[in-house]
Amino acid sequence: MLSRTKPMLTNLDARFYVDPDLFARERQNIFRRRWQMLGPVARIKERGDYLAVDVAGWKLFALRGRDGILRGFHNVCRHRGARLLAEGTGTCGTLRCPYHH
Ligand code: FES
Repeated sequence: MLSRTKPMLTNLDARFYVDPDLFARERQNIFRRRWQMLGPVARIKERGDYLAVDVAGWKLFALRGRDGILRGFHNVCRHRGARLLAEGTGTCGTLRCPYHH
């Protein structure tokens, strides 16, 4: 005979959603150490297609190069830290920093 009692649902304590120290630990211990999905590969099928996202505060992008290979990068210029690509998907012929070019 099946039990007629309803399963008890519990939520995480509210601090798990708002505590900056917990978020920092989560970033370091989960997001930084594991592979993260940026999005469906079908959105970056052609050469020059990119997908730029924010993963736990890190600006990242995947870009399909002229050679057809998909590569991942931090979405930050090495010179002064400007963001290279707008968040979302698009196509770029040449990857060039919008700040100082
Ligand atoms: S910040 Fe990108 S070239 Fe200076």
